[in-house]
Amino acid sequence: MEKTSLDLLKNEAEKEIRESGSLAELDKVFNKYLGKKGELTFVLKSLQSLSKEEKSRIGKKANETKEGLRLEFESRTKVLKEKSRKEAEQKEWIDVTAPGKKTVSGHLHPLTQAKRKVEDIFQKMGFQIVLGPEIESEWYNFDALNIPSDHPARDLWDTFYLKNGLLLRTHTSPMQVRFMEKNNPPLRIVVPGRIFRHEATDASHEMTFYQVEGLMIGKKVSVANFKAVIQEFFQRFFEKKVKIRMRPSFFPFVEPGFEVDMSCLVCKGKGCPVCSKTGWIEMMGAGMVHPNVLKAAKLIPHRKDGSGWQGFAFGVGLDRMAMMKHKVDDIRLFYSGDLRFLNQF
Ligand code: FA5
Repeated sequence: MEKTSLDLLKNEAEKEIRESGSLAELDKVFNKYLGKKGELTFVLKSLQSLSKEEKSRIGKKANETKEGLRLEFESRTKVLKEKSRKEAEQKEWIDVTAPGKKTVSGHLHPLTQAKRKVEDIFQKMGFQIVLGPEIESEWYNFDALNIPSDHPARDLWDTFYLKNGLLLRTHTSPMQVRFMEKNNPPLRIVVPGRIFRHEATDASHEMTFYQVEGLMIGKKVSVANFKAVIQEFFQRFFEKKVKIRMRPSFFPFVEPGFEVDMSCLVCKGKGCPVCSKTGWIEMMGAGMVHPNVLKAAKLIPHRKDGSGWQGFAFGVGLDRMAMMKHKVDDIRLFYSGDLRFLNQF
């Protein structure tokens, strides 16, 4: 190859080096001239077949050309590397001061929140938290609570009976006897739990819902103590004074018995579907524990000489407490699994 041809090759290569806009392009140019099968490599390889004089003349020029191109490649590589670094910097730019993306975290169900709040309030008043079985025997759910099998009061609770003779508890009251059988008074317990009734549902009635049973037994525990405890409980739960009323009622396992209503917070006592348009909503059944219940737990009921035990019990609807607190106008929303509802709490 003549000198002029080598000059042409050099010019051509230099032009292509200058014009390559990326490292990939530059790599191609490198292969074209200096790669294994590159044009200049070919020239250098073919020197062997030349005469001594030609070899030294063309060889020198070819090696100079190779060295010149090597330097050109080196400097263009530097330029292109810097260029691609700058481009990446633009594209992959991170603002470390920008606020991060919020992770979406769940939260406790409003009924769980209410349950924990009730537990906390009663614990601070010296009550112990106790849990009982959801599958119960007829004995604990009814008989031990002074409701024999032929008593019409059994009809108060439409019951799911199981094939094995047991049933789904219709209230949390069975834990009264279960606990007193194993623990001597004086005692103070609350029993939160799920209960089941074969009932039609409406804005304030579910067929599976939650109650919290309360039981306080001592030598002199009275209705006045009940009223004080309940007033304190309502005030702490709703974090304000709420209007409550007690009215006489019948439950076979208490004597006397009453129900506690509160002025409906959903409609501010004006009347709405939640309170059946009465302005009042029934929150709990309660009363002084019937002597037969104490006897079923093998305890001696109060006697005139001051010996024996007495006390109060109550069963509050946890769902209704949560409804009043958050002004929820339909109990079924708690069980709907609808995130539009749940995310509000
Ligand atoms: C009872 O279940 C009694 N065991 C309560 C009791 C305990 C009385 C201790 C005396 C001594 P009652 O069926 O009324 O009572 O239910 C108690 C509370 O549960 C009601 O006041 C109400 O707040 C709630 N409740 C009752 N039925 C439903 C229902 N279907 N859906 C939602 N809450 C209900």
